[in-house]
Amino acid sequence: MKRIGIMTSGGDAPGMNAAVRAVTRKAEHEGLEAYGINYGFAGLLAGDIFKIDSRTADDIINRGGTILYSARFPEFAEEPVQLKGIEQLKKFGIDAIIVIGGDGSYHGALRLNEHGFNAVGLPGTIDNDIPFTDFTIGFDTALNTAVDAMDKLRDTAASHERTFVVEVMGRNAGDIAMWAAVASAAEDVIIPEKDFDVAEVAAKLKSSRARGQKHAIIVLAEGVMSAAEFAKKLEPYGDFQLRATTLGHVQRGGVPTAFDRVLASRMGVYAVELLMQDKGGVAIGIQNNKLVQHNMLDLFDSKHEADMDLYKVAKDLAF
Ligand code: F6P
Repeated sequence: MKRIGIMTSGGDAPGMNAAVRAVTRKAEHEGLEAYGINYGFAGLLAGDIFKIDSRTADDIINRGGTILYSARFPEFAEEPVQLKGIEQLKKFGIDAIIVIGGDGSYHGALRLNEHGFNAVGLPGTIDNDIPFTDFTIGFDTALNTAVDAMDKLRDTAASHERTFVVEVMGRNAGDIAMWAAVASAAEDVIIPEKDFDVAEVAAKLKSSRARGQKHAIIVLAEGVMSAAEFAKKLEPYGDFQLRATTLGHVQRGGVPTAFDRVLASRMGVYAVELLMQDKGGVAIGIQNNKLVQHNMLDLFDSKHEADMDLYKVAKDLAF
């Protein structure tokens, strides 16, 4: 193997650049060449590919977003599209590929693997919803952004004795919501993995108001419903001075935390090492602080499990 292709795909996540840098530098360190593929699988198809070296990858570890751009490209599920992508890889003399992204991106990587190109996946998504890894690249930064916003919202909530329903990202996973709820001492948390009862939420708010605390933060994962919808459901139960806030894509940007930079660097180096051992069709993860690799097929048969111990902590402390 001489040339490694690298792409970022799906929703961007802070720390993706740190992974690109790590792959590029490790490849160079091993006497290999790295090629950046812009716009994920869409760029692969278009042949939007360039040689990336340690100079290009300088000063990007601290930058949010991805210098390789990103795109969602469902068309890559079709075989003729995959074959065209492979033609492009061959044209650039690329022997193996590293894909940084979420679940959808892994499907594309596996297709390449089936066509004879070793492909390794790195978990890059703020949602932390990929099986077989304790953390995904970008989660920690998004979490810190959400917590920072909630600290600010608590100031104004306290001044006006209001209840804020704060919607955080997490299409199918309540990880950002649970971690942010604990870190920001939220009065309640609602996640897609667990049923909720609006009457119970209202009773909790009433009891804390009766004890003298007249402001509250309720963290809601977007996968459940919107903050506005939730506030509407809660409204008939009492005068909570409700306000709904959606944090939205602000959670996807920003300077990556040290944790995300280190995680991305470790995973990037490991991905190159696996390719050097002629491994493909695997997804990298981190479990109990050890880098691990799992067959991508096993990943598709599994589901990321919400940490119910953490959920309990959030609930035990929220009253
Ligand atoms: O998967 C990451 C994520 O940020 C989700 O939390 C969110 O639902 C989705 O992407 C938003 O996607 P888009 O940027 O395409 O609107």
